[in-house]
Amino acid sequence: MTRRGNPFRPSFGASPRVVVGRGDLLDEFDVALDEGPGSPMRSILVSGARGMGKTVVLNELEERARTRGWHVLRLPEGPGLLAELERTLLPARLAEHDPGAEQRRVTGAGIGPVGSVSTEISQTYPASQSVGSMLERLTEIAESHGTGVLLTLDEVQAAPIDDVARLASAYQHLLRDEREVAFVGAGLPVGIGTLLDQQGSTFLRRAERVDLTPLRHDEVRDAAVRTVREAGRVISPEGAERLSEIAHGYPYLLQLVGYQAWRAAGDDEVITATDVGTTLPLVVDRMSRLVHTPALRQVPQGQLDYLRAMAADDGPSSTGEVAARLGVSKQHGNVVRSRLIDRELIAPAGHGLVDVALPYLREHLRRG
Ligand SMILES: Nc1ncnc2c1ncn2[C@@H]1O[C@H](COP(=O)(O)OP(=O)(O)OP(=O)(O)O)[C@@H](O)[C@H]1O
Ligand SMILES: [Mg+2]
Repeated sequence: MTRRGNPFRPSFGASPRVVVGRGDLLDEFDVALDEGPGSPMRSILVSGARGMGKTVVLNELEERARTRGWHVLRLPEGPGLLAELERTLLPARLAEHDPGAEQRRVTGAGIGPVGSVSTEISQTYPASQSVGSMLERLTEIAESHGTGVLLTLDEVQAAPIDDVARLASAYQHLLRDEREVAFVGAGLPVGIGTLLDQQGSTFLRRAERVDLTPLRHDEVRDAAVRTVREAGRVISPEGAERLSEIAHGYPYLLQLVGYQAWRAAGDDEVITATDVGTTLPLVVDRMSRLVHTPALRQVPQGQLDYLRAMAADDGPSSTGEVAARLGVSKQHGNVVRSRLIDRELIAPAGHGLVDVALPYLREHLRRG
């Protein structure tokens, strides 16, 4: 029998075969694109913990826009965002779609060195053109076809604030003129918070905030069943239940547990609950290395101490007790607690209680 390819995708930024649980957001965005300029869901800021599925949501929203014939410009991550938009992304798009560009390209070809695309593009759209005017031109072209322009930016927290501010002013200008544009950004909650506090990020502050929450138990279970079935195999009902329990609604874990369980089943037709169960030690280890370690890297010592003090409990911790364990005042404990909630590392769990917000974080903290 030929071995079938593993259909699970346990890597960051990789769109899964079966996307579950984000339907409402995608539909709302669809409606916003239909509704026309002024619809609030046309400017969205997606936040969520590492591995919660922000990039996947961004991909899906882009796909919705493309299906409607919109131009989608994914901005580069990190430094150089605006320079690349100005020198490469927009000129290339305009050279391809601007009816006027064809004309100029033909005339230009005779005088400059021929044969390189970049030469043709720079002749068509000289570098002196600003991001604002190129963006406006692209929007105009899109509108002439009854569509628009969607700008997307992943890892918003890593974008240089000056670039964001300049981009914002170009985008805001188009918004004010009621043009067919949309923006979706995605990033880690704390980074987004910091960015919003900066000058020049007003448009981001007005954007609709969408905080990605864990998937529901049945969503994870169904995703597992469908992913396996579409790849020509079967997961038993108990196996799917067990997988969902281990994943705790966390999208990355859905993929990771699925991937490992698929392997554990070897050549068997059916993936069983036992196959799923064997993955647990490895899953905890991967989470620790790929999610918890990076997530805790930027966390100040005082907050780490608080987390470690919480890890002594098997379930939700009493905030009063944690403060007592640390030997700090209740007020001070509360300050630290709020910071950790902002980071989405812990979450309120009823009156006076908090719990860790990432699956297996407790195990990770106990280890070291
Ligand atoms: N809705 C979903 N349904 C099924 N699997 C998903 C879903 N969303 C994300 N995943 C899976 O979860 C993993 C993490 O997704 P993604 O890379 O989008 O997370 P992220 O929030 O962007 O993480 P990071 O903060 O590291 O950028 C990937 O393996 C992806 O395939
Ligand atoms: Mg991502």
